[in-house]
Amino acid sequence: MNKLTFLVNFLAYVITNPKAGRQILDAKYQSRQDSKHRVFNYAEKKTQLDDVIKVLFPQSQHAIEDFSKNTAEVQSHIGSFFDKLKNETYPSKKKPYPLEYTLDNKSGLFLYILCKIIRPEKIVETGVAYGLSSMYILQALFENKKGTLYSIDSVFTPWQSKEMIGSAIPSHLRKNWKLILGSSSEKLKETLSALGPLDIFFHDSLHTYKNMTFEFDTAWPFIIKNGFLISDDISGNNAFHDFYSKIDMEPFVLPQNEKSFLGILKKS
Ligand SMILES: C[S@@+](CC[C@H](N)C(=O)[O-])C[C@H]1O[C@@H](n2cnc3c(N)ncnc32)[C@H](O)[C@@H]1O
Repeated sequence: MNKLTFLVNFLAYVITNPKAGRQILDAKYQSRQDSKHRVFNYAEKKTQLDDVIKVLFPQSQHAIEDFSKNTAEVQSHIGSFFDKLKNETYPSKKKPYPLEYTLDNKSGLFLYILCKIIRPEKIVETGVAYGLSSMYILQALFENKKGTLYSIDSVFTPWQSKEMIGSAIPSHLRKNWKLILGSSSEKLKETLSALGPLDIFFHDSLHTYKNMTFEFDTAWPFIIKNGFLISDDISGNNAFHDFYSKIDMEPFVLPQNEKSFLGILKKS
């Protein structure tokens, strides 16, 4: 598809879907506002995965390598899913999200280990895309034989579709999964109010200061004692930093690459 056709299709979509158009414009505006602010540097706060697990769960008998072996199947499934997509054009119906948009394996492994150790009943995540974070969580719930993952995401652009949300998640892992269609600003409050106390909240949707702050403020009161609030991509703005400062807590910060970090807060 050439640029002009893309633009015409995009405009037609926005005109026929004014709500989606407003969401796209609002997200762009929020990102632009965020780019005007200096961001906190997490480099000095970072802790490697082994140490995060040792400090959080000193009693755990399992080595990281054992957990890592358990996720080999998930990782190979992700590898073949992405192999099929790599030659497709982005954005398109077949490839609605860029491949680098997805959670890195180390963060996925953290989510898996966390769910294996604390054996959660209820997890809420925002932002699914192909479903990588969901898969790591669901693999643990499948092995635990308990727990439900509630994921909030929607169709925001003409190339996205309901079918592609979580499309990487294999059928045997879907038993413990409930997809809630809508933006987090529309669905998070009502979802949490209906669910009650929560073991884990994971943010990976729209990474703007406004949206992240809204999600953290909304989810935190629902998280049980010893439960977790986790956020992907904390380094694009100061929402995570301002949130943990406000509640007077210190996070764990797991490095993904030089610029990107996963933020972890345990509620005491
Ligand atoms: C970074 S991707 C999620 C990656 C995913 N967690 C993974 O591990 O592969 C961001 C996702 O957030 C969704 N999203 C964007 N804005 C959102 C909003 N306001 N509410 C809910 N989801 C949103 C997008 O549709 C996209 O699927």
